[in-house]
Order: sequence, then structure tokens, then C-alpha cells
Amino acid sequence: MPTPSLLILPGDGIGPEVMAEVRRIIDWYGAKRGLVFDVTEDLVGGCAYDAHGTPLTDATMAKAQEVDAVLLGAVGGPKYDDLDFSVKPERGLLRLRKEMDLYANLRPAQCFDALADFSSLKREVVAGLDILILRELTSGIYFGEPRGIIREGNERVGINTQRYTESEIARIARSAFELARKRSNKVCSMEKANVMESGILWRQVVTEIHQAEYPDVELSHMYADAGAMQLSRWPKQFDVIVTDNLFGDLLSDLAAMLTGSLGMLPSASLGAPMANGRPKALYEPVHGSAPDIAGQEKANPIACILSFAMALRYSFDKGDEAERLEKAVEAVLAKGYRTPDLMAAEGGTQVTTKGMGDAILAALDESL
Ligand code: NAD
Ligand code: IPM
Ligand code: MN
Repeated sequence: MPTPSLLILPGDGIGPEVMAEVRRIIDWYGAKRGLVFDVTEDLVGGCAYDAHGTPLTDATMAKAQEVDAVLLGAVGGPKYDDLDFSVKPERGLLRLRKEMDLYANLRPAQCFDALADFSSLKREVVAGLDILILRELTSGIYFGEPRGIIREGNERVGINTQRYTESEIARIARSAFELARKRSNKVCSMEKANVMESGILWRQVVTEIHQAEYPDVELSHMYADAGAMQLSRWPKQFDVIVTDNLFGDLLSDLAAMLTGSLGMLPSASLGAPMANGRPKALYEPVHGSAPDIAGQEKANPIACILSFAMALRYSFDKGDEAERLEKAVEAVLAKGYRTPDLMAAEGGTQVTTKGMGDAILAALDESL
């Protein structure tokens, strides 16, 4: 088998800080597990704009299309707030998602027992939580046309369009049912069919796919606003939540607080299988570039490290090695190691970004 290839795009703000820890873990797998990756690093986001005047060059885009998987840190930051919309750092990330056609964004939210008291919700509400938010990632209001800021009479109008085709809904619905079959066999689909035509179609298509192809999976529907309430009231009622691009963005940040910190949530964005049978894939933490803590060695690298674990599972068929890494993270949290975002009143040992990386590497060594 050829050496699997990885394109690493650390990006901006805390992106490079958390990705440095992932690099050490990749090296550990090479040295200790014989899992060697052909790694290339490149620019995306604000740093790419600084170097090339664009948040993603065509050359980097082409590389992303060729590799077995892309790992991304985070993009954006206040330095780039006033840039023209077309070259904002976030456009680089959106172009990667769109051109690689990464329509299925898996955002698992698991509450590690050691953090159950740290969530802003009560322990009994979050302890043992293991849900998966499946966010449609390449369509909806993020990409719908028409869009723009136009002039109407003597005022400006901002326009975005929520648009979903039947086939776009059908493919994300199939992903949800397939994922549910490997978990607790339950899907809750969220939209706003009470006020949006795209929501009515979403509900119809999900129901049709369910009846025709997945009648064994339990399906329910919820309006997304009620879903947000239920997610914070009793999240353990859910297994897989399937929803559109914008609702999925909001609900997954909400889910972060069920796990203790936004610094804990990994994600995988998957597309159709490539010639080698692997899905097109990009792995990234759910969090952003955290400008408020960038450059201070305070960032929690776990979301990015767990994103690499997802790569091991979904791109490289190494579920056992993914589990080894997830267990190492769990062990380190159980021992009380905490980056500042996880420091609770009752204490723990505060560590830096690199300190958390050291602890996870030590736990990996112990797993051998
Ligand atoms: P953010 O996720 O960067 O930060 C929100 C809060 O969470 C901040 O207080 C931050 O310090 C904290 N936080 C986030 N990740 C953390 C980590 N790993 N460890 C500890 N604390 C962490 O969201 P924001 O402040 O709304 O956005 C900042 C920039 O990031 C914006 O330009 C935004 O567009 C961009 N962004 C990028 C991505 C991405 O690249 N995928 C995702 C979200 C936001
Ligand atoms: C995310 C981010 C992105 C999104 C931004 C940075 C484009 O918030 O990945 O959750 O809105 O999808
Ligand atoms: Mn987001």
C-alpha cells in the first residue's frame, strides 16, 4: 500500500499552536506504530492572504484534492476583519469544503467523565453523553444564490438564499441513517418546516429515504429551535441529529458546552469515495482561531487531536488506533490535566498547550 498522504493546513491564531501538538502525535504513530504518513504543510486563511493575496491558492486547492486527507487548524482573526468579503480567511475554508464536495460534516459531542462536573449543565444531564451532529456542509444558505448586498431605492439590502435540492437532502439523509446503524440506530432530523419551504422539502425527503431504505432506523423530526432547547434540556435523548448547514453550525457550538469546552470538539467533513475507496476528507476542530488566547500557549489542543483520531478512523481504516488516541485523551483528563479553558473551581493541574500534548504522548506510550 502506498504511504498515506496528509495535507496539513494549520491556518491562523491558535491553529498552528494546536496543530503543532498533532504533528507530534503523527510522529509518534510513525515511530511507535509503524504508521507513517507523507505529510505536506501549506497555508490557508489569513496567513495565505498575507503571503499570496488570497486565502487559498489554486495550487493548495489542487493539493487538497489529491491527498488522502486534509487536516486543518483554524482560520480568521481580527486582523482580517476589514478585508473584502471575497478574500476573507473564512472563504478559503469554504472553498475547500465546496470544491472537495465535503457534504457530510460529522460533529460528535462526547462528554468525558472527568469533565462532567465542568460543563455548564448539571452532571446528570451530560455524564455519559455521546451524540453525533451531522451537519450538511456544502449547500443551504451558506452557498445559495442570489446573494450579496444590493441597493434598493435609497437603502442597502443584504441577501442570502436558503436553497436545498432533493438530491442534496437525500445524500445527507443516507449518511445519517448509515451512521445511526453503527451507533444507537436513532436519527432526529431538525429543520423549520413550520416556516420554511426548504424545511418542508427537507422533512419530506428524509421521510421518503427512511421509508424506502432505512425503515429499521428510528426516525423523529424536530423544529430546530425546539431542538436547541431539547439539546440543552436532555441531550441524551439524541443519537444522530441531522440538520442543515446553518442550523448545524449553531447546534454544534451549543453541543460544545455539553462536553465542557469548545476546545474539545473534533469534526470530520466527508465527501464521496475517491478512486482508492477512501472518502474525500477534511478534519478540523469545531472551534475557530480564538484570537483572544492566540500566542499564549493556552489553547486546548484536544479538539484538533481528536480530529486526527477521526482521520485514523474514517480515512485510514485504523479504528483501533483512533481508539488508542481517544483513550489516551480520556486518561489524561482523568488524571486531572487541564488547559485553562477546562480549569474548574475544584482544581486540576493546569498545563499549557504543549503540556497537554506531552501528557497525551506519555499516555500513548503507556498504551503500548
Ligand atoms: P472561536 O471558536 O475562535 O472562539 C470562541 C471562544 O472559545 C473564545 O473565547 C476562545 O478563546 C475559545 N476557544 C476556542 N477554541 C479554543 C481552544 N482550542 N482552547 C481554548 N479555548 C478555545 O470563535 P470566534 O471567536 O467567534 O471566532 C474567531 C475567528 O475564528 C473568526 O474569524 C471566525 O470566523 C473564525 N472561525 C474559524 C473556524 C474554523 O476555522 N473552522 C471556526 C469558527 C470560527
Ligand atoms: C465552523 C465555522 C465556519 C462555518 C466559518 C469559519 C466559515 O464557524 O466551521 O463551524 O461557519 O462553517
Ligand atoms: Mn461554527
